[in-house]
Amino acid sequence: MDICVVGAGYVGLVTSACLAFLGNQVTAVEVNPGKLENLKKGDVPFFEPHLTDFVKNCLESGSLKFTADLDTGVKNAEVIFICVGTPPLANGESDLSQVMTVARGIGGALDNKRRRVIVNKSTVPVGSGNWVEMLVNQGVQTVQPVPARSSRSEAPSFSVVSNPEFLREGSAIADSFYPDRIVVGSVDEASIDLMRKLYNQILTQDFEPPECAPRPKGLEHVPFVLTDLASAELIKYSANAFLAMKISFANEVAGLCEKVGADIKQVTRGIGLDLRIGSPFLNAGVGWGGSCFGKDIQALMQVAREYHYPTHLLEATIKVNEHQRLVVIQKLQDELKIIKGRTVGLMGLSFKPNTDDLRDAPSLGIARQLIKMGVLVKVYDPVAMDICKTMHTDLDVQYATDLVDLATDCDALVVVTEWDEFKRANWREVSRVMRWPLVIDGRNVLQEDDITSHGMTYRGIGR
Ligand SMILES: NC(=O)c1ccc[n+]([C@@H]2O[C@H](COP(=O)([O-])OP(=O)(O)OC[C@H]3O[C@@H](n4cnc5c(N)ncnc54)[C@H](O)[C@@H]3O)[C@@H](O)[C@H]2O)c1
Repeated sequence: MDICVVGAGYVGLVTSACLAFLGNQVTAVEVNPGKLENLKKGDVPFFEPHLTDFVKNCLESGSLKFTADLDTGVKNAEVIFICVGTPPLANGESDLSQVMTVARGIGGALDNKRRRVIVNKSTVPVGSGNWVEMLVNQGVQTVQPVPARSSRSEAPSFSVVSNPEFLREGSAIADSFYPDRIVVGSVDEASIDLMRKLYNQILTQDFEPPECAPRPKGLEHVPFVLTDLASAELIKYSANAFLAMKISFANEVAGLCEKVGADIKQVTRGIGLDLRIGSPFLNAGVGWGGSCFGKDIQALMQVAREYHYPTHLLEATIKVNEHQRLVVIQKLQDELKIIKGRTVGLMGLSFKPNTDDLRDAPSLGIARQLIKMGVLVKVYDPVAMDICKTMHTDLDVQYATDLVDLATDCDALVVVTEWDEFKRANWREVSRVMRWPLVIDGRNVLQEDDITSHGMTYRGIGR
């Protein structure tokens, strides 16, 4: 199938490469000139395991092409994916300006040689399917005004479908080939058939898995959730809100565990084994972050506000998270008493492991707060330091070359991102170079004994 993907960021690039791998002809349209030049050479401008090799293979086979020209992409395509960013505005609403530009641009590039399906893969508020249809029509009108009495058949034919994305940075390729479900929102039979055909290999798991992403044992098919546009849009927001709520729940209980002398790891294991609850996303720590949870909850609340509908759980989810991000600072104060003039090393910058994404990363808020309190902040992250230096030039921190360099002369280390490298740290060496032997495990991932056996103090969250 000929496919156009507009926006080659985390979602667009992974979608492009995976669809190309499955035998489709994909044209990815990217507006950022620097990104585009790198992508044409096979250089992926962000860190995602295996993606560079994967993209290079697709480029070499000719199944994936990059261009800045939306017209070329649209003219050849049967299915056009919108995968541009929808970042939050200051008031919490989604900034839909990228979607607006692209939708009008697609309209301007449409011809009536074939019917197109335009797929909203970007996370967009409820009602955006209809809005995108309107914008595409506006784009059509700007280049080919349709006289009032002309036949409708002369106008380009298209339909807008919602197909929210659930991939997780860090495991994006596997998530694309083996998703828990594929959601499609549409009432147009022809579009539904085309989407089913496009995803058929994934739905039936009828493809040879790539080496970098073996098929999970026992996976034979993927559920296809067919629904209307508004429900598909709401599924995406509700899924993210629910996951964030689970983490905030664990964090709230973690605070109580500290008061009563319980251990949150035991408590979440005990409740997570209940199949109605499930263990994923019940981890206490410095709280959730990333490009999606915060912005999607805010956007969901904004939709609710438009309908004068209260969102108590969502508000509490955010409140708990805001509090949780600063819990490690309280722990530093508890242990060090005076923290002004101290040196604290942050282990990890990215909002989670296996990505260099710093959007809404807890590390940034913790670092800024510590700096404000007169602390010298050192940081180390296996992949996210270059992007941090480029994007957060105002962040007055010292960048370390490795964990031992980070620990040198520190009064405390704080685990902010649960990179595997930190779980395997040589604590004997770390303890030798620290000024004060304190480790705050902001993700509850370290082995307490490993640390205390070298004469260091260990403090977790909710334990
Ligand atoms: N990142 C994730 O883990 C994730 C997961 C699920 C859903 N989403 C959603 O998917 C959407 C995309 O997210 P992302 O993280 O990939 O964003 P991103 O910012 O990494 O990528 C967006 C890309 O679109 C490009 N772009 C912007 N305007 C364009 C235009 N007019 N023409 C062509 N390209 C254009 C940008 O240059 C950028 O490369 C968002 O709505 C997000 O909420 C993201």
